[in-house]
Amino acid sequence: MAKFEIIVGSVLGASEYVADALQETLLSQTHSVAVHLTPELNNLDQSATWLICTSTHGAGDLPDNIQAFAEQLKTLNLSKVTFLVIGLGDSSYDTYCYGSIQMENILLNAGAKLLCPALHIDVLNHPIPEDVAVEWLQSWLNTHEQSA
Ligand SMILES: Cc1cc2nc3c(=O)[nH]c(=O)nc-3n(C[C@H](O)[C@H](O)[C@H](O)COP(=O)(O)O)c2cc1C
Repeated sequence: MAKFEIIVGSVLGASEYVADALQETLLSQTHSVAVHLTPELNNLDQSATWLICTSTHGAGDLPDNIQAFAEQLKTLNLSKVTFLVIGLGDSSYDTYCYGSIQMENILLNAGAKLLCPALHIDVLNHPIPEDVAVEWLQSWLNTHEQSA
């Protein structure tokens, strides 16, 4: 059993749906998991795996609900943290999935360890992004459990 902190960035709710589906998948496999819609450092366990699940808005910006958190991370040493990234975006924008790329870079710069390459979900091609996200997470869990 592992512990996950799902950190959500969402404006219109799609990433929230994805986070809920990921939570369900993890709980069904007896992992411990919390979903954070207003992420705050004090409420996050740094020994858990952080699962970033964020869309992109504006011109490549992070959703409002996660911006303050992202700023906070820039000043920290997070070398104990391991993380996964799922980005939702629309490939018709030049700044495709740039919000999730920003989060990834902020965490890497803070010393956190990315456990596998990020999943970028193009909502143009995947009208039900939670299906792709759950499949990806399940595949990572399978690989991770085999190598653990
Ligand atoms: C006003 C607006 C701006 C957007 N800008 C971007 C963008 O810069 N890059 C991108 O990849 N997707 C962009 N998108 C697409 C959203 O990221 C996508 O629709 C996503 O599924 C929204 O998820 P959410 O409901 O969790 O916020 C934009 C969508 C809107 C409505």
